[in-house]
Amino acid sequence: MTTTSNPLRDPRDKRLPRVAGPCVLVLFGVTGDLSRKKLLPAIYDLANRGLLPPGFSLVGFARRDWDHQDFRQIAYESVKEHARTPFREDVWTHLSEGMHFVPGEFGDPGAFDALAMAVKELDESRGTGGNYAFYLSIPPKFFPKVVEQLRRSGLADRSDGEWRRVVIEKPFGHDLASAQDLNDTVHRVFPEESIFRIDHYLGKETVQNILALRFANSMFEPIWNRSFVDHVQITMAEDIGIGGRAGYYDGIGAARDVIQNHLLQLLALTAMEEPTSFAAEAVRAEKAKILSSVRVRGDLSQSTARGQYASGWQGGVKVEGYLEEDGIPADSRTETYAAIKLEIDNRRWAGVPFYLRTGKRLSRRVTEVAMVFQKAPHLPFSHTDTEELGQNALVMRVQPDEGITVRFGSKVPGTSMEIRDVNMDFAYGESFTESSPEAYERLLLDVLIGDPPLFPRQEEVELSWKILDPIEEYWAGQGGLDQYKSGGYGPDSADELMARDGRTWRRL
Ligand code: BG6
Repeated sequence: MTTTSNPLRDPRDKRLPRVAGPCVLVLFGVTGDLSRKKLLPAIYDLANRGLLPPGFSLVGFARRDWDHQDFRQIAYESVKEHARTPFREDVWTHLSEGMHFVPGEFGDPGAFDALAMAVKELDESRGTGGNYAFYLSIPPKFFPKVVEQLRRSGLADRSDGEWRRVVIEKPFGHDLASAQDLNDTVHRVFPEESIFRIDHYLGKETVQNILALRFANSMFEPIWNRSFVDHVQITMAEDIGIGGRAGYYDGIGAARDVIQNHLLQLLALTAMEEPTSFAAEAVRAEKAKILSSVRVRGDLSQSTARGQYASGWQGGVKVEGYLEEDGIPADSRTETYAAIKLEIDNRRWAGVPFYLRTGKRLSRRVTEVAMVFQKAPHLPFSHTDTEELGQNALVMRVQPDEGITVRFGSKVPGTSMEIRDVNMDFAYGESFTESSPEAYERLLLDVLIGDPPLFPRQEEVELSWKILDPIEEYWAGQGGLDQYKSGGYGPDSADELMARDGRTWRRL
């Protein structure tokens, strides 16, 4: 027998579509916001792209008196409203045939026995192979109950050749101790390799592109260090308020909500050393190394700032302040804006500040990582020629205008030597015809395939809390909390933090 070697048939060829094998996805908390806006649409988008197996089955579990048909209807509405790819009747019909609903309380043994029966039946009727992913899209306080019921009902036990995976969403605790408790709870039933912790920023194309930019090119790495970089600004600004999430958000605040996870992950990818490969362990090891070198220096009143949005105008609409939002106590001290200055104690970054800021109800939605470079050591121009020359910058635009900008000085056309900042742009939309998948499409597919590099491991979670805990403690005690106008740029204290270092934030 002769074999022909066709490189396109090589299973290691990354250009081949990665398709999940037979499995059931059990979604706990299927009535929640995340399910409706992100998870159900992402499942449809995966089906539409042909990345789910033919017998793929989705079981919704929630405290609702629904039957399969009610569940399918809710899923249909959320797909119609939020899916990224066009609606196709044939795809929907096929997908919805595999959708089942099991009603029940999170601690109810009877409901979990019914769930166990339901997935067994799916194995038989749809060939799902005894492979189950349990997605806990529920508040962490319910984790112990659900995990215990998965154990008791035998759902967590697998036979040879089958797999079990459990997916948990941030917040992974609210401090180091609670993160460790939560981890112990899940570990009592599932081994580490079965646990997939979702930080959806890692599923974003532009976030993964930080690694491509740094490690697939030769021109950036030589300047990616303290000899050339003056400082780094990591911004996640949102124009929305807390919406209907008062119950989750109050008492948590901006730093726990997004700095502990999304922003520190962005910092880790930006600052880490080259991993030996893109295998999960290699990437996670480099991220953990960098997170363990992060320090908050000096007086926290000088290196942190926080604020709460007051009423204001946003997009021509008058909006209420945080304290007037439904469900927020009138004396709440929860921050909706946080800025912190961090340093990284290693040879590459010693002395280079990393400024992180995030806030709700700011003038604009923008997430970016900006490397701001040192000024040229000498300028052979007159002072007036370079009055409008700032610092060179390389900006990785995560969203919404995905791309990369390089800012540098250029001669203004004319007879004199006047130099001004200009931008050179790469925009995803212009260079690639296909649109980027949503973060949850990528991450759900990775869970079903069992591909872990984009999921933080527990060590990263704990290291991030070690960075944040002292700051939270300081804020809980004496830290100030300024009001800032909705639709503006954040509290004055954040500008003062930068001004103390002779710097300014990039304009939103
Ligand atoms: C979530 C936070 O993790 O990220 C929210 O809990 C925030 O408060 C959201 O609004 C932002 O996500 P994205 O993908 O829109 O930037």
